[in-house]
Amino acid sequence: MNNIIDYYNTYDEDGRLFRNYSHQIEWLTTMYYFDNLIPARSKIFDGCAGTGNYAFKLAEQDHSVVASDIVPRNVDIMLEKQKKNPILKDIFVGDICECNHYDNYYFDVVLCMGAFYHLNENMRCKAIEQCLRLLKVNGILVITYINLITALHLNIEPKLGNISEILECYNTKSFGDSFIYMMPEEIEKMAEKYNIKILHHITSDGNPLLRCENFCEARKEDFEKYMELHLSICENKNFLGCGLHNLVFLQRF
Ligand SMILES: C[S@@+](CC[C@H](N)C(=O)[O-])C[C@H]1O[C@@H](n2cnc3c(N)ncnc32)[C@H](O)[C@@H]1O
Repeated sequence: MNNIIDYYNTYDEDGRLFRNYSHQIEWLTTMYYFDNLIPARSKIFDGCAGTGNYAFKLAEQDHSVVASDIVPRNVDIMLEKQKKNPILKDIFVGDICECNHYDNYYFDVVLCMGAFYHLNENMRCKAIEQCLRLLKVNGILVITYINLITALHLNIEPKLGNISEILECYNTKSFGDSFIYMMPEEIEKMAEKYNIKILHHITSDGNPLLRCENFCEARKEDFEKYMELHLSICENKNFLGCGLHNLVFLQRF
């Protein structure tokens, strides 16, 4: 856990989704699906809220939002935002695998958008069990993960200088830092194991290696057309298979 805290203590998580067009794809795609899938005035638990970008946006849309994160610095940033704009119902530091702040079946929607970047299979089961405990029948669970295959290719050095490490990461699913990667089929097997229905399995940002040079310097109107394309293909299995940040919307029975 300490290495997760160290990582986010020096990372600009607050600006991550807005840095440039390439990063904005994830934000715009996720919000598009939220707008279409989350029922009005839902009770939402954002259990890996980071600095609250999604939590505050959802609260502005009249949902009742509770936000927590395992990294105290991220929670401090949310508390600062809350001072200026007090719209979240509750904010606290917590591990989504052990959240016991709320009763069973309390929330209509649970967001687990970050923990799976760092958890091994056993801990992912703990996280999912906790999320399901908090979620109402027919409620929606949202999980994000980083796709192993794309992470491998993004990290290959010129002339295959680090191919041994790449192979090792393929086998261990990690480069030995705080990140752990997954394959799309692993999340689908998990949904089957917990008997939860997959509503949508999408890549929220696609594969950065497939984007053209100077993508981020595109004209606004051209980027808008690109987003139209992205939203049309983000559930395509081939595209999903090479996406970097992937997102699954699940419904419990
Ligand atoms: C890349 S950020 C994503 C933030 C936001 N959910 C988003 O999608 O933009 C991942 C977040 O997950 C948090 N996190 C990681 N493991 C966690 C855990 N076990 N419980 C709660 N939060 C966790 C991190 O501290 C970090 O803020």
